[in-house]
Amino acid sequence: MDRSLCLCLLICLFLQCPFSYSWKSLTFLDLGSNLLQGPLPASLCNLEKLQYLLLSDNKLTGTIPHCFGNISTQLTVLDLRRNDFHGMIPTTFPERNELRNLGLNGNQLEGPLPRSLINCKSLEVLDVGQNHITGPFPDWLGTLPELRVLILKLNRLQGPIGNSSNKSSFQKLKILDISYNNFTGYVPAKMLENFRAMKKNGSETSQRQYMGDGSYYLDSVTVIMKGLEYQVKRILTVFTTIDLSGNQFEGNIPKSIGDLNSLVVFNLSHNNFNGLIPQTLGDLSELESLDLSYNQLEGRIPPEVCNLHFLEALDLSQNHLVGPIPSGGHFNTFPNSSFTGNPGLCDFPLKDCGEVDGPQPSPWRVSHHGDLLDLTSGFTWKPVVLGYCFGMILGVAIGFLMFSTRTPRLFVAMVEDVCKRSKRPRRVLYVPLAQGLSKRSKRPQMT
Ligand SMILES: *[C@@H]1O[C@H](CO)[C@@H](O)[C@H](O)[C@H]1NC(C)=O
Ligand SMILES: *[C@@H]1O[C@H](CO)[C@@H](O)[C@H](O)[C@H]1NC(C)=O
Ligand SMILES: *[C@@H]1O[C@H](CO)[C@@H](O)[C@H](O)[C@H]1NC(C)=O
Ligand SMILES: *[C@@H]1O[C@H](CO)[C@@H](O)[C@H](O)[C@H]1NC(C)=O
Ligand SMILES: *[C@@H]1O[C@H](CO)[C@@H](O)[C@H](O)[C@H]1NC(C)=O
Ligand SMILES: *[C@@H]1O[C@H](CO)[C@@H](O)[C@H](O)[C@H]1NC(C)=O
Ligand SMILES: *[C@@H]1O[C@H](CO)[C@@H](O)[C@H](O)[C@H]1NC(C)=O
Repeated sequence: MDRSLCLCLLICLFLQCPFSYSWKSLTFLDLGSNLLQGPLPASLCNLEKLQYLLLSDNKLTGTIPHCFGNISTQLTVLDLRRNDFHGMIPTTFPERNELRNLGLNGNQLEGPLPRSLINCKSLEVLDVGQNHITGPFPDWLGTLPELRVLILKLNRLQGPIGNSSNKSSFQKLKILDISYNNFTGYVPAKMLENFRAMKKNGSETSQRQYMGDGSYYLDSVTVIMKGLEYQVKRILTVFTTIDLSGNQFEGNIPKSIGDLNSLVVFNLSHNNFNGLIPQTLGDLSELESLDLSYNQLEGRIPPEVCNLHFLEALDLSQNHLVGPIPSGGHFNTFPNSSFTGNPGLCDFPLKDCGEVDGPQPSPWRVSHHGDLLDLTSGFTWKPVVLGYCFGMILGVAIGFLMFSTRTPRLFVAMVEDVCKRSKRPRRVLYVPLAQGLSKRSKRPQMT
């Protein structure tokens, strides 16, 4: 928009002068990232043709005028992120509206989510993170047929989640971030089963596709992955995340998580999940960021996780995991901080399994289900004797090799070469968004 026109409009808006007919036909208003202050004039609602109202990153205060729920049935994008609004979210979203993206992240809004959002049948992005919203998990949002992005993080929502028996609930969801609320109870397996858009079905194209209508406005969100906050300015349709961190979830991690095989980010940290890490996690072949830290998980790390070839960030710290850390793939390139706070865990990059303090699991003491068997009944001398024999043979073999190669240094080099740890394939998929775009490269083409 022309700068002087913009200024003129601004003056007009904030002096609340009557809108002439020409203003009334305005369809696109982008005043984002300015220093606008004060309350939002209700007279904005008179712009009946407005489709895009973008006022993010300003210093606007006061409440969101009620007429905004009602502003026009034309409005497609309402972006009021990172301002200083307080009070309730407007409750009067009319039936048959066109709202596709509602961004209210980073304000001081309170009260429950308005039920009339259920009228927004075109809603694809609902971002109300970082407010003071209260109430239970909005299961009813599952009936929005187009919903792809649901961000509720850092609010005061509480209680159990995903109680809907409707099989088509949340079926297009790709980004779910409900971190840092006060959600409790189990994560229902049937809820995960409904996330059909997080499952690859083989018909994906290798072409890059972004969310949004492509013309004026590209949907953007802020996500935490690989331990960093990224502002994803353009959301690739293949980008799929679940972030449940910082709640009070308990119980097992549902096995059905393995079906969501297009997941890129999975974060369950700071909850009370217990039981074993499901083997099915190894089926999440696109996973790049996995955080299960600060839970009560027990048993061994399933070797299937070595199949996660794109995994770049892993955090399993502060649980009750035991046994040797599996090696294979690039799994042994993660730093020791990925595993600390699990006293029973051993092997590279932590201490050798021989040096583990306390109850020491060994292959013949841990049953398939991870229960520690009674030592007196399960223990036999056979493995010990076998171990001795194997050690002796190995010793003799090494001695022989050292003599036959003559130079011990050459032998050391040989051994080093054999033991060299496989390097993790490096990719740059999401650059911190100075360039304003998330980049996928060096990645095998999707079929
Ligand atoms: C919303 O719009 C309808 C019809 O245009 C009108 O009857 C109603 O009073 C409006 N509500 C508010 C809160 O503006
Ligand atoms: C389930 O949700 C779909 C839309 O997501 C809706 O059309 C359908 O009526 C719902 N079924 C039930 C039984 O609520
Ligand atoms: C599920 O919903 C029903 C009715 O809506 C409620 O009575 C029940 O307590 C809910 N269960 C959970 C686990 O939220
Ligand atoms: C979280 O919920 C529990 C149980 O409902 C409650 O006791 C606790 O005070 C809540 N915590 C916060 C921070 O709201
Ligand atoms: C496969 O997934 C794509 C995108 O997720 C979807 O558009 C398409 O309808 C799905 N096809 C089948 C057969 O489910
Ligand atoms: C998981 O979420 C927590 C809390 O939001 C965050 O601190 C952590 O960095 C995330 N983990 C990864 C690997 O991104
Ligand atoms: C982890 O590795 C760092 C160096 O990479 C080392 O200083 C530290 O002692 C290690 N911690 C443990 C618990 O092994």
